[in-house]
Amino acid sequence: MMLPTRLSALCLLVFVISEVEPHSSNWKPMWPSYKVPVVLPQATLSLGKAQFNAEPRLDVASPCGPECHKHYSLPTLEELKEYMSYETLYSNGSHTETEVGIYVLGSSVSSTQSGGKSRTKRQIYGYDSRFSIYGKDFLLNYPFSTSVKLSTGCTGTLVAEKHVLTAAHCIHDGKSYVKGAQKLRVGFLKPKHKDGEKALNQTNSRIPDKMKFQWIRVKRTHVPKGWIKGNANDIGMDYDYALLELKKPHKRKFMMIGVSPTSRQFPSGRIHFSGYDNDRPGHLVYRFCDVKEETYDLLYQQCDAQPGASGSGVYVRMWKRQKQKWERKIIGIFSGHQWVDKDGDKQDYNVAVRITPLKYAQICFWIKGNYIDCRDG
Ligand SMILES: *[C@@H]1O[C@H](CO)[C@@H](O)[C@H](O)[C@H]1NC(C)=O
Ligand SMILES: *[C@@H]1O[C@H](CO)[C@@H](O)[C@H](O)[C@H]1NC(C)=O
Repeated sequence: MMLPTRLSALCLLVFVISEVEPHSSNWKPMWPSYKVPVVLPQATLSLGKAQFNAEPRLDVASPCGPECHKHYSLPTLEELKEYMSYETLYSNGSHTETEVGIYVLGSSVSSTQSGGKSRTKRQIYGYDSRFSIYGKDFLLNYPFSTSVKLSTGCTGTLVAEKHVLTAAHCIHDGKSYVKGAQKLRVGFLKPKHKDGEKALNQTNSRIPDKMKFQWIRVKRTHVPKGWIKGNANDIGMDYDYALLELKKPHKRKFMMIGVSPTSRQFPSGRIHFSGYDNDRPGHLVYRFCDVKEETYDLLYQQCDAQPGASGSGVYVRMWKRQKQKWERKIIGIFSGHQWVDKDGDKQDYNVAVRITPLKYAQICFWIKGNYIDCRDG
């Protein structure tokens, strides 16, 4: 009975209802609407105390590039349920495994989507096109204020009052949790001096503000099984994301997550992200670049990035018609650098995990605790 399962799995993988707007003078890139499936916990079992053996690696590598990924057959529904099941790590060191069921509400699943066909004229990463963000006016304001630092060295993004999205490899190497994951903390850049002190001294205003991190402990962490089981093989990178829940609200503005449109729909085909690249200690580094290739689960780009930026939320800004306003949303998670063997030639890419409808449903459920609030991707 492979056919029906594969078919229903295909339905889940398909992007639905896309809003095609005519190109006119006031044309705006629009957020499409997606039909989001339901990912519901079925059973949770205790796995006891977790192991924290792995050395944190800020970078992941996979030999499987875009061409290799495109040759993988679609996962079956059973496989998808396996990948979307997840582990939860608690701050007391115990962990659980939760199995999920996947459902599609309604049946108007139609219209297919294919990954953007590649225009792969290789571009040299000529010069370093990253910008360090200076000054508290920027650092403390949206969207840069949503970038936070993990105590294991990666970057994360605020996606709800108490939640931070990051890369799974910052927490777990596929076999074990990393050292430091048990006492995981999230760092928020704050000015070293109080505003009052600063205001007294106008002559100082051109000197970059001194900033320091304030830390909040993580209460629990969710990592999808697709990462935990799959890291040894090539599908692993598709599931390189994790969600952290803080012990207390961070009280900053956060960025919503959204289902990733195809890269052709991104304004100028570009993505943006900011992270704590470890070659510029203490700096938040912003960059944007074109997407070169995409698969269903990954965006391949050549944004300049150094380890430490992994886990950064990849965002685009488009017009939300229902709300009549521009909205930035996180549509991916920066995973890392990748060397790919292509006909004997080494090519390198930076890879971001896309938020597919299924991943959206799962992460949204982790945040909200119900699926009713997760129907609009
Ligand atoms: C650890 O914390 C979780 C969640 O609060 C709880 O369910 C579990 O029983 C705790 N385990 C131990 C060994 O204290
Ligand atoms: C103001 O800034 C100047 C230049 O950095 C410094 O010399 C001076 O001591 C500061 N004054 C106060 C009151 O902080």
